[in-house]
Amino acid sequence: MKILPFEIEQLDELMDFLDENLNENYQKNVFLNIRKRWPEGFLIVIDNDRIIGACCGAILPNEKLRVLILVLKEDYQKQGIGKELMSRMIESSKIFGVKKVTLEVRKDSGAIQFYRKLGLSSVDLLPCYYQDGCDGIVMEKHL
Ligand SMILES: CC(C)(COP(=O)(O)OP(=O)(O)OC[C@H]1O[C@@H](n2cnc3c(N)ncnc32)[C@H](O)[C@@H]1OP(=O)(O)O)[C@@H](O)C(=O)NCCC(=O)NCCS
Repeated sequence: MKILPFEIEQLDELMDFLDENLNENYQKNVFLNIRKRWPEGFLIVIDNDRIIGACCGAILPNEKLRVLILVLKEDYQKQGIGKELMSRMIESSKIFGVKKVTLEVRKDSGAIQFYRKLGLSSVDLLPCYYQDGCDGIVMEKHL
């Protein structure tokens, strides 16, 4: 298993992976823009030549890292890979003077417990934030 920077040639496979493993619908060009803005923060996890995980984020002007995507194929969850991806993203964001990490998560998601374990706390509620009407929770951590 390898954690590598995301390359543009992997875009179609990434879109299929996200389609299978997340509920939201995403546009290809969004990911090209995210990569262009901060390539070091866009990582994929490969096992047996297939994408089994991905994460990406954006550096905001107010010294914040916003995590945009963090997802692993179900068979690969709870093995410490999510924690490792968050840690790598946070480390490479520090060069930009990032002092806070922020993200949105579905109110019904088990990922809230994962982020709590990593030291993030819920700071806001976003009513009907997701495409299916689910509320979003904003979580943050000072670095
Ligand atoms: C959320 C997600 C990225 C976490 O990655 P992961 O590799 O499974 O998590 P890790 O193995 O690194 O877990 C780190 C810690 O969080 C805990 N944890 C992880 N998922 C958890 C869950 N659903 N409920 C409770 N605790 C959880 C682990 O037990 C571990 O605790 P420990 O350090 O005491 O052993 C992954 O489960 C996933 O892809 N979920 C589906 C997509 C998703 O919800 N993404 C987030 C959208 S914002």
